[in-house]
Amino acid sequence: MPIVAAALVPHPPHLVYADNPPQNEPTSTGGWEVLRWGYERLRNKWNQLDFDVIVVHSPHWKTRCGHHLLGVERFKSLSVDPVFPHLFRYHYDLKVDVALGEMIAEEGVQEGLIMKMMRNPAFRVDYGTITACHLIRPQWDKPIVVLSSNRAYYDFSDEVGEAQMLSLGKATARAIEKSGKRAILLASNSLSHRHFTEEPEIPEDMRYEHIYHNGQYLWDMKVLDLMRQGRCQELLNVMPDFIEQSMSECKEGSLTWLLGALDIPTYPAEVHAYGSVIGTGNALVEWDPAAQN
Ligand SMILES: [Fe+2]
Repeated sequence: MPIVAAALVPHPPHLVYADNPPQNEPTSTGGWEVLRWGYERLRNKWNQLDFDVIVVHSPHWKTRCGHHLLGVERFKSLSVDPVFPHLFRYHYDLKVDVALGEMIAEEGVQEGLIMKMMRNPAFRVDYGTITACHLIRPQWDKPIVVLSSNRAYYDFSDEVGEAQMLSLGKATARAIEKSGKRAILLASNSLSHRHFTEEPEIPEDMRYEHIYHNGQYLWDMKVLDLMRQGRCQELLNVMPDFIEQSMSECKEGSLTWLLGALDIPTYPAEVHAYGSVIGTGNALVEWDPAAQN
């Protein structure tokens, strides 16, 4: 079973800021603990797993023409969140499984997608990738594969974007199968995504942290309920409405890519945590492919 585990893992930089790792320059007094405890549970569980590579789809590497993959063996630089530079200035040093990336690109072409390997050694890896990978595996001892977020949802429609992401998911699963590698898959996106536009004086002052709007909370609960019941085809059926009505970050495609790679799960997912960050809805949700047998 080459996909050994998979999860929806949100990437607000606040979660790294609140953890105070040595790689991040700013320091905090904590905050957003429920989400961070969820990450801790998943980390501890997956530390027991035997796997070779982490494959992540990130909303913050946006590509207009086609789906891109990192195509350089190592990246080392400073990642600064453009919106929250006072929270996230993270020194990263990561390895890439270029061979698996190339196999995914080949399978994507077979699906009729435009694919491209990113070969620029000076490329700045996006913070969505770094945040999710750090919170899942802070020791950075496994190579990663990173897929970009194509703009099909924006240039055409949510339906076109969804179809492309399901195809990209299928291509990803086939490439992993052919590689013989054991992979963990991460969809790095939030659920509902309306957010506050002003920050409290102390960013981690939890008096101010709550969901922005009850309508988006109700949508998040509906979506999580479908996941927990293994009704992912129904989730995909309502995805365009969810995206439109809650301004969901699912519009970047990561979750649908994951569901496609998992062949649209019919078995229950486990919700490890849910919480808001600057008013957005965020959940850690795990699928265990072994559970389908
Ligand atoms: Fe984001």
